[in-house]
Amino acid sequence: MAEKPRIGVIGAGLMGHGIAQVFATHGHAVTVYDPDGASLATLRERIQTNLRNLGQPESAAERVSACRTLREAVQQSEFIVEAALEDLPLKQQIFADLEQAAPAHAILASNTSVIPITAIMQGLRDRSRALGTHWWNPPYLVPLVEVIGTQWTSADAIARTIALHQAVGKTAVHVKRDVPGFVGNRLQHALWREAISLVENGICDAETVDTVIKASFGRRLAVLRDEGHKSSTGNPLTSATIKWLRYKHRIPTPQPPEGSLNVRQVCKRYGVSLWVVHYWIERGILSAAHHKPNAPYAITIDDELDQRLRTWVANSAHLHPSSPAPTA
Ligand SMILES: NC(=O)c1ccc[n+]([C@@H]2O[C@H](COP(=O)([O-])OP(=O)(O)OC[C@H]3O[C@@H](n4cnc5c(N)ncnc54)[C@H](O)[C@@H]3O)[C@@H](O)[C@H]2O)c1
Repeated sequence: MAEKPRIGVIGAGLMGHGIAQVFATHGHAVTVYDPDGASLATLRERIQTNLRNLGQPESAAERVSACRTLREAVQQSEFIVEAALEDLPLKQQIFADLEQAAPAHAILASNTSVIPITAIMQGLRDRSRALGTHWWNPPYLVPLVEVIGTQWTSADAIARTIALHQAVGKTAVHVKRDVPGFVGNRLQHALWREAISLVENGICDAETVDTVIKASFGRRLAVLRDEGHKSSTGNPLTSATIKWLRYKHRIPTPQPPEGSLNVRQVCKRYGVSLWVVHYWIERGILSAAHHKPNAPYAITIDDELDQRLRTWVANSAHLHPSSPAPTA
């Protein structure tokens, strides 16, 4: 990789323009593709506005070029990051196109927030150079980039990606296994799950949850150094708190309605993967209510929905428990 490799960015939305800005600010030439003409037309202007607000030289925006085709944006790029809409089939198609258009040695990264990188990259011919780089919004303010490898990603691609992001001032961490939500979003959602449970169980209202977080450990989070380390090495107060909360004072959760299923039971009934069931829930095809952490959903399926799902599964010849989410 050159000292300042050219960066290709796919998608000029909220994340794409911010990621382009970070690389451009650190001297990289950046080429950006988006099928939406309006996004492309305002790309430089949005970056200039951010730079002005940050008190940084606006000239960095001149290193960012808007391209009308994906090929133009990536044909000379050594590192390519996709920040298009959060949609699995769309991302799979983009990476299939990238494999054709990008140089063979270029690293291909997705900025997906939650979709497993494995599902996005599984159809590629060369999966050793494909990985995830999960940035946080706004990319030019929040330091973290999670670098996620799959079972196929080479150690060299991971090392080069971490070095590239560190060189532009990011805090890059290696996520060693490809799980939905990676590390940051899993932690963030764990807090949200507990907040919802506290409110659902009548322990406090949502405003109190906000106040408690903001007026207590929320302040510490910004300067946190070794909380995880402390928990595992047995700070007496931390250990006592964990023991008390984890084992003695779990909030009793309501039982699921009779006849409802949990996620694994739905998988079994229709012969599909967990990923497919979560996709159905996210899209509102299945309605689900949380009831307990190890069987997190109470899913009710009436006869009509049952028939629809069975028909859909029967018509999806490609579907298998290890397949990614459906495209229908
Ligand atoms: N918004 C966040 O806080 C955040 C944080 C981290 C990661 N992400 C992830 O980044 C990605 C982009 O999110 P966003 O918030 O920037 O969305 P956005 O809607 O602001 O931008 C998405 C862009 O993708 C473009 N697009 C649509 N089809 C395309 C195609 N075929 N090729 C190229 N571009 C295409 C759209 O025109 C749009 O400009 C998503 O995968 C999202 O999950 C978002």
